[in-house]
Amino acid sequence: MTLIVSIGGNKHGKTDPYIKKDGVELDLILLIRTILAATKEIAFRVSQGELSGVLGSTLDENIQGEVQKKLDVLANQLLKDMLSDDDSVRSIASEEEEFVVPVHSTAPYIVAFDPLDGSSNIDINGQIGTIFTIYRARDDVAANSPEQFAQLGTEQVCAGYVLYGPSTYLMMTTGGPTRGYTLDLTHGGYLLTVPEVTLSQDSMEFSANMANYRYWQEGVQHYFDQVLYSSEDYKDVTMRYNGAMVGDINRILIKGGVFHYPSDARAGNENGKIRLLYEANPLAMLIEKAGGKATAHGKRIMALPPTSLHQRVPVVMGSNNLVDEFDKAIFSNS
Ligand code: AHG
Ligand code: MN
Ligand code: MN
Ligand code: MN
Repeated sequence: MTLIVSIGGNKHGKTDPYIKKDGVELDLILLIRTILAATKEIAFRVSQGELSGVLGSTLDENIQGEVQKKLDVLANQLLKDMLSDDDSVRSIASEEEEFVVPVHSTAPYIVAFDPLDGSSNIDINGQIGTIFTIYRARDDVAANSPEQFAQLGTEQVCAGYVLYGPSTYLMMTTGGPTRGYTLDLTHGGYLLTVPEVTLSQDSMEFSANMANYRYWQEGVQHYFDQVLYSSEDYKDVTMRYNGAMVGDINRILIKGGVFHYPSDARAGNENGKIRLLYEANPLAMLIEKAGGKATAHGKRIMALPPTSLHQRVPVVMGSNNLVDEFDKAIFSNS
């Protein structure tokens, strides 16, 4: 059933009873609306594809060592500009920015985002998205300090993503359950379409880049040998991999299953590829608030003390049984 409720209510005075139930303060609701306004603009450009001139690469590299796509840069700029105009924002961190961007020195919140997740899907009209997270600002460190963001994932006051798929879909939690909203192009708002997302626990759907098998540690290889070839317990297994974690996690939240991006032997991938601040923590919160689990080397992702802004972590997240089985197989003796 579609409830005609937009985030935090709308100009006609309708309130959003769900977000209210989470005890979300008005300034946070308004900040979420700023982020969502930027995503609507990105969604429009994405839907215009080739016509809006956003496909293809730039000549620049980001701090992650990746060639930036035009849309990485555009989405980053849009979010940065709109958030810089919001009085509630003290600091911004982004996958595409080397340093923390200071905004308003006494504002209550800090925002981090992956402006465009799944960059390799841009030019093929595949799934892409924006991932965001909000924390309370720290008064004991400066607005431009990376320490602002050295907070545990458990401190997130809001986490979400917008998936630019056949429909534009927002998955978000403000501390209560994970909820799904669909962008209604006729009136321009995100409408609540799934008030409470509950992760299925009996799925056998795996999501991993199997081409990295040769670089994985032996224990991980052995586990996947069991899953794919030998164990009768996994005879119903199936695999789906998007190249955009946001798409894989969206499928897992709706249908169940598990996402893996383990550490591997390639230079720079000692801790895998997924970034703790922009990807792992917000997606972990969405998964946990839907009843699933998210771990890194057998430890809860949201309880990992961050060590640097662009830190990477190995990731397993999804249905409890599949996360537990993996962690037990690999880390029970460590
Ligand atoms: P981004 O496009 O923001 O750089 O993130 C891409 C990430 C993640 O979304 C995806 O699951 C993973 O990288 C894909 O990596 P591989 O191509 O190594 O499988
Ligand atoms: Mn990238
Ligand atoms: Mn990403
Ligand atoms: Mn990105």
